[in-house]
Amino acid sequence: MKKIVSLVLALMLILSVLPACAEGFENYKSDFTEGTDGWYARGTGSAKVSVNEGVLTITGRDADWNSPGKDFALNAGREYSIQLYLRQNDVSSARFIVSCAHTKDGTETYENIFKGKVKQDAWVKFTGKYIPDAYDSYTIYIETENAAEISFDIRDFTIKEAAVPYPEDIPSIKEVYASYFPVGTAITQSETRDAKRMNFMARQFAIATPGNELKPDSVLDVAACKKLAETDETAVAVHFDAAKPMLDYCRDNGVAVHGHTLLWHNQTPEALFHEGYDSNKPYCSREVMIARMENYIKATLEGLEELYPGLIVSFDVVNEAIDDNTGKLRDCNWKKTVGEDYLNLAFGFARKYARPGMVLCYNDYSVPYQPKLTGITELLKSLIADGTVDCMGFQSHYQVNTPNIIQIEQAFQQILSLGVKLRVSELDITVTAARDAQFAAQAGRYRQLFDLYMKYADDLLAVQFWGITDDQSWLNTEYPLIFGMNGKPKAAFNTLVKLP
Ligand code: GLA
Repeated sequence: MKKIVSLVLALMLILSVLPACAEGFENYKSDFTEGTDGWYARGTGSAKVSVNEGVLTITGRDADWNSPGKDFALNAGREYSIQLYLRQNDVSSARFIVSCAHTKDGTETYENIFKGKVKQDAWVKFTGKYIPDAYDSYTIYIETENAAEISFDIRDFTIKEAAVPYPEDIPSIKEVYASYFPVGTAITQSETRDAKRMNFMARQFAIATPGNELKPDSVLDVAACKKLAETDETAVAVHFDAAKPMLDYCRDNGVAVHGHTLLWHNQTPEALFHEGYDSNKPYCSREVMIARMENYIKATLEGLEELYPGLIVSFDVVNEAIDDNTGKLRDCNWKKTVGEDYLNLAFGFARKYARPGMVLCYNDYSVPYQPKLTGITELLKSLIADGTVDCMGFQSHYQVNTPNIIQIEQAFQQILSLGVKLRVSELDITVTAARDAQFAAQAGRYRQLFDLYMKYADDLLAVQFWGITDDQSWLNTEYPLIFGMNGKPKAAFNTLVKLP
């Protein structure tokens, strides 16, 4: 009782100096190099704290709750991580509790946050997490359990507030660049089930690409195709089951969609190229494959337009057709079955069945490198002559130092001189370790790229990252995006949302 009364009095005193509304918690560390730093002895007896060379010591205790404590303006419902080192030399082993005393309307209550054991004369690290309920004030203190009279030391006490998941009070990158180009991202099916994540996505991004859900592996209905092939080898069946939830979300939340991808050498069922849609049977003839190509493109573009009128603003017709080393057409099933003109045919069908105004793109990686750039240029020239291509998608999976910015700009100029637009379709910049210095370099690199993008804004249809947060990136061990886990803004985000 004595304890409660005196604590209430002490806390009333403290309350008068605490801000009425605790917001904007500043992460805190006590290194005790300049005094007690606001720590005081909680007790009515002779307990007192003193400081010596970075260590806070409490002596003169006569109750377990006689403890070093400090007041913090915590925010209810937020997560705090607490860390400190503890040492005692009085008994062979003692148990300690990190606790919180809190008051509401003048009544003080207590909570044990975490416990641990400290053997004689050894520093022991204590770590724990705390999510406080709503109170008027909070005091974190370190007490003992059945070791009322021992003296003990603490050092390097830190308390940090965890980032708010999917923060709403940060700038929106799409708004910052709205007068330059739409900023977007890729999204995947599993993310679509997380409403908080999707709402964060929609606050930050103006356009989204289904990461996998409009690729032939997701769209071609092989079982239905097999049935149809019994009477017509050229028939194609498609469905949009994987894409629908994200397309619904985008439609309902004002996010535009970029389609990716009609044809690709990868993530395409092998069965598509075989008689009877059976991978064990021979490859189809050129004529059958041209007809399947036309039917696939028609069914996909018209099917999506019917379900989502106007939602899909642009589409990758073919992805990654040029070989890195030769600059010639990459070997793939389309080239094998249809022949060298398969891209001209595909773009022709896409133009025929796309809603008027839909932007048709050729998309590839390592565009700024030779001999790829020359190969892509030749390909585009031929498609431009057909009048079927509008845009070159630069995937832009980059590193902090490569390719250099001059190379990228030269590639922009070379492609633009042909008379097509540009898109940055899959941007990410890898680093080799999750270190502040690397994230600073990554931020600098993003800034340099966005400066270039702003310069070419008139001809740049969109800038899309390949994913929202590092932990869900295809390159998750190389931390390539502007948000960390749960949408935590990284240095790159903070840099990009400030225009130069
Ligand atoms: C390429 C493709 C994308 C995606 C990435 C890896 O860049 O264009 O669709 O598959 O590889 O995630």
